[in-house]
Amino acid sequence: MIRFERVTKRFYNVTALRELTLTIERGELFALVGPNGAGKTTAIRLLCGVLKPTSGRVTVAGMDVARDGVRVKRMIGYLPEEPSLYERMTPRQLLRFFASLYGVRDAEGRIEELLALVGMLDKADVRISTFSKGMRQRISIARALLHDPEILVLDEPTMGLDPLTAKELRDFVSGLRGKKTVLLCTHYLDEAEQLCTRLGILHRGRLVALGRPEELKAELGGAGRDSPTLEEVFAHYTRGSRG
Ligand SMILES: Nc1ncnc2c1ncn2[C@@H]1O[C@H](COP(=O)(O)OP(=O)(O)OP(=O)(O)O)[C@@H](O)[C@H]1O
Ligand SMILES: [Mg+2]
Repeated sequence: MIRFERVTKRFYNVTALRELTLTIERGELFALVGPNGAGKTTAIRLLCGVLKPTSGRVTVAGMDVARDGVRVKRMIGYLPEEPSLYERMTPRQLLRFFASLYGVRDAEGRIEELLALVGMLDKADVRISTFSKGMRQRISIARALLHDPEILVLDEPTMGLDPLTAKELRDFVSGLRGKKTVLLCTHYLDEAEQLCTRLGILHRGRLVALGRPEELKAELGGAGRDSPTLEEVFAHYTRGSRG
């Protein structure tokens, strides 16, 4: 249902993504991993219609994101890498505002449910400007889920969350498997391995490995060797990315 077809994105002299071809099926939980600057956020922004490809195309349920942006955006809940929130609002006001934009039915009930999910009910009426990083992240997650989108796109969702909240979020995302289509990028390989049905490794804008975590480990391990860890798989495919 999500397709990247030979997608290239250049910024002036930097090629952030090179001929990415990838299909993510409905109900899949797909994790993108890769070193800093590999192109993960760029791929996500192209999917969410924030950026347009230099060449190639991205489609969602057959619709070209660059052309049918409005319809595609309604299907997607997007947690950006650096979410921006309206600082002067309270979480409840912010969620009401977006609920009216999306035409969410029974908005009040939905807002309560989401604030409870992210553990922010007791802060529902406190100004966002007073919040810590993790509290902002929780509100951004609630905002992404508000219109109950079919597709969830999460750019480093657990970054900045305390360990227990991160675990709760992982359990929640894990529960979406088979129900929603999820694309997430993360630097936590254990998180990727725990959650994903398939994994893609990006390195310098190229998709260098693709498959289920067990498949990627088995391919690298060969016969007669102990299976490598996902960290070893990652290191193998992204060698030379630093220094
Ligand atoms: N708006 C932009 N203008 C110029 N270059 C950009 C822009 N956005 C991204 N890039 C470049 O594209 C490349 C890929 O960046 P991207 O943000 O997609 O990486 P990433 O994999 O998300 O990294 P990280 O793990 O640090 O979040 C980098 O070289 C980056 O400098
Ligand atoms: Mg990024």
